[in-house]
Amino acid sequence: MQVLPHLFANNVRWAKEVEAQEPGFFKTLSEQQNPEYLWIGCSDSRVPANEIVGLKPGELFVHRNVANAVVHTDFNCLSVIQYAVDVLKVKHIIVTGHYGCGGVIAAMNNVKLGLIDNWLRHIKDIAHKHQEQLRVISDIEKRQDRMCELNVIEQVMNVSQISIVQDAWARGQELHLHSWIYRVSDGMLTDLQNNITNPDDAVEIYHDAINNIQKV
Ligand code: CO
Repeated sequence: MQVLPHLFANNVRWAKEVEAQEPGFFKTLSEQQNPEYLWIGCSDSRVPANEIVGLKPGELFVHRNVANAVVHTDFNCLSVIQYAVDVLKVKHIIVTGHYGCGGVIAAMNNVKLGLIDNWLRHIKDIAHKHQEQLRVISDIEKRQDRMCELNVIEQVMNVSQISIVQDAWARGQELHLHSWIYRVSDGMLTDLQNNITNPDDAVEIYHDAINNIQKV
């Protein structure tokens, strides 16, 4: 007896469709992976990495966790970044948040959810850091939207400070960092204009992005 048979049926259908569209696709893919992008996104089931940007298997290296956090002591995330930068030599690291992120909203509201509260502590620190900017946004949804944006910008700043990324820039490796946000209600991505390509410009670009509150 097969458990969850509909998922296996979906898998067979998908694999056949892919192979029919591009004969030899899986064999070619099995021989190497050469992605140009590392995607760091939220675990939210409504924010699937490859589909949003229309990329096929093999084109996007992916790390996802609750609220797309990049924490300097998280060896899971650091290992993904190290492998992506040093071995796969990706050219772009894209942190993608999303409006209405349950992790971000829980952190803002001090909701008690269990173990995850400790993970969300990092997001609470960001809400605290930007409390003056957030406090003046009276509409609660707009305040949450802005916090989701600020979270992405801060996580990209974290990426820029990681030794792996700093070392890559120091040896002249091409590496671009991007801050994107996705709206679940219309499927659209927005670039938060926090694109960092070297350590010298990082702080200035970050401050501009933090102070750019026109979007809300
Ligand atoms: Co989320």
